[in-house]
Amino acid sequence: MSHRIVWKSQYCGPILCVALVAGVVGLSFAEAPAAPKLSTIVPAADLDTAVKNYLTKIAPFMADEASYGKNKDQLLQKANAIVALAQTLGNHDEETKVKGPAVAVMNAARDLARSKDYAGAQTAYAALNKALAMTEAGTAPKWEKFASLGKLMHETAEVNSRLRRNVRRFDRTKDDSAEGAAILLAFAQATIYDTHEVKNPADMPKWYAMAVEMRDAAAELSKTSHAGDEAGFKKALDRLGKSCDDCHEVFHTE
Ligand code: HEC
Repeated sequence: MSHRIVWKSQYCGPILCVALVAGVVGLSFAEAPAAPKLSTIVPAADLDTAVKNYLTKIAPFMADEASYGKNKDQLLQKANAIVALAQTLGNHDEETKVKGPAVAVMNAARDLARSKDYAGAQTAYAALNKALAMTEAGTAPKWEKFASLGKLMHETAEVNSRLRRNVRRFDRTKDDSAEGAAILLAFAQATIYDTHEVKNPADMPKWYAMAVEMRDAAAELSKTSHAGDEAGFKKALDRLGKSCDDCHEVFHTE
């Protein structure tokens, strides 16, 4: 904290004193970092594309009960990805289709991600499609834990591999890489607010810093994909990889 409180006794009546002391005590609890203006780190259009493509991916999993059964893990993982994407889109300063109904999309996608059987999944899937078809403006979702961290991490690993494959044919895969970068950015942004793995409160600032570092690496991946900057993209991928390892070393050691 860079704030310095200059004590001047004449400014400190009983009520103000209590407030000041509470303020000083409050400073010892780390607060989640505020999100930057999102258009400066990722285009909303890339997040929007990602939602659309996840929906295309899960459609065949929902075709019938057998497909649901066979693809359940992937379906739940992809639905959980939509939760995080909608949270970031709902807070984005650029307009997209998902922005207005973001809260309804998050709720339906989370129900789908938690579905236990095909009937439950069908209900959530119908609600998700209905939410996505809504056009009225809605309120922005809160920055709070909403998606499942474990599922986000498994999807993170898949997207990370996809980006690593793209390096070998960078020019032909720039759009796909920009989409992957947007996905990882939304996941990292969601990770900031899910602190349940932080067992020691003193480690909270570390958690925030590491999730922010993953997010900022993803922002660099997004920028370099759009710029067609192959060398920069490779550097950003290394930065991303380091952000995974650094966090796992502290918070996911077993
Ligand atoms: C801010 C901290 C943090 C960052 C950054 C992070 N992870 Fe994780 N990761 C975790 C935690 C905590 C778990 C355990 C989650 C759980 O079990 O629910 C985890 C679990 C995982 C798992 C599941 C492993 C298992 O035991 O099943 C994979 C895979 C994974 N992370 C991949 C990645 C990749 C790839 C990146 C970077 C692109 C990354 N993670 C970045 C904290 C982080």
